[in-house]
Amino acid sequence: MIVLGIETSCDETAAAVLADGAIRSNVVMSQDAIHGRYGGVVPELASRRHLEVVLPVVRRALDEAEVGLAGLDGIAVTAGPGLVGSLLVGLSVAKGFAYVHGLPLVGVNHLEGHIFAGFLAEPRPSYPFLALVVSGGHTAVYACPAPLEYALVGRTRDDAAGEAFDKVSKLLGLGYPGGPAIERVARDGDPQAIAFPMAQFQDQAPDFSFSGLKTAVSQFVRRHAPLSPVVVADVCASFQATVVKMLVRRTIRAGVRLGIRQVLLTGGVAANRALRDALALACAERGYAWSAPSLRFCTDNAAMIAAAGAARLARGERADLTLNARATLPLA
Ligand code: KG4
Ligand code: ZN
Repeated sequence: MIVLGIETSCDETAAAVLADGAIRSNVVMSQDAIHGRYGGVVPELASRRHLEVVLPVVRRALDEAEVGLAGLDGIAVTAGPGLVGSLLVGLSVAKGFAYVHGLPLVGVNHLEGHIFAGFLAEPRPSYPFLALVVSGGHTAVYACPAPLEYALVGRTRDDAAGEAFDKVSKLLGLGYPGGPAIERVARDGDPQAIAFPMAQFQDQAPDFSFSGLKTAVSQFVRRHAPLSPVVVADVCASFQATVVKMLVRRTIRAGVRLGIRQVLLTGGVAANRALRDALALACAERGYAWSAPSLRFCTDNAAMIAAAGAARLARGERADLTLNARATLPLA
């Protein structure tokens, strides 16, 4: 089955072609340069940029895959969650192509896409597993008992982990996106230099919270300004270590409680080396298996959307032309 995936939920315009699970092409056009000066994604600018580049991006994905629209078996497109104006661009293109060429169409949940990124390369997770989805817009743990089945286990009660990286980077003047910038600077810092607080919940829920941490970093920065490069590196390393500790501890705790001994780490923040290493260590200590997509499939891409869409198309799922964008779209 040859499937074209289209992803425009945030600030990456992406298209990819998958043939029986193998990646034939994977084109990602990032808008980082546009949003960088604002320290975060500006929705209106994002949708305008998607409009400008979506057709060339799709064209390139088809060309590189050496397939025409008529040669496709289906089109998968992100329907939510995300920025509505951005989602609508990808949806309109997907619906237009599907209608004109009489192709099966399916809408994909962006978070399900991140989970399917875990299936793009070996080692693939086997069911049941826990998916720790950490991105700029979402931070949650899902139990995945069988293909296309999800149960929400825990989630952030405020900011997403990637959002915390972006906000802390902004307040340190390190630029956008914040995750890679903080990770780079943190390499020269001491993760134990500053004891930032880790949110605890009375009910012991495997939930996350990052806004208190962000406030603590902001207070530290204000109290110690101007910061020397050495202190900035220590702030980055200590902040990153606190985020990593919270993500890993709560995920492992959920695994123990549910008796699920396998973890898939995915989403943009899964590109973080410290997080990957800490999860690997925690899983090894308990005899759990773990996996994560290679770095380029952690952040937003359309191969993961095509992969999830292919699974849904194979099950006979079809969307009609009323398929619409949804800013919020629960996975479970
Ligand atoms: O999955 P993604 O590309 O888009 C969303 O669905 O949100 O994730 C983007 C987020 C941004 O917040 C970015 O700062 C973060 O992932 N990120 C990282 C790293 N690379 C990207 N966070 C920490 N360390 C990284 N290396
Ligand atoms: Zn994403």
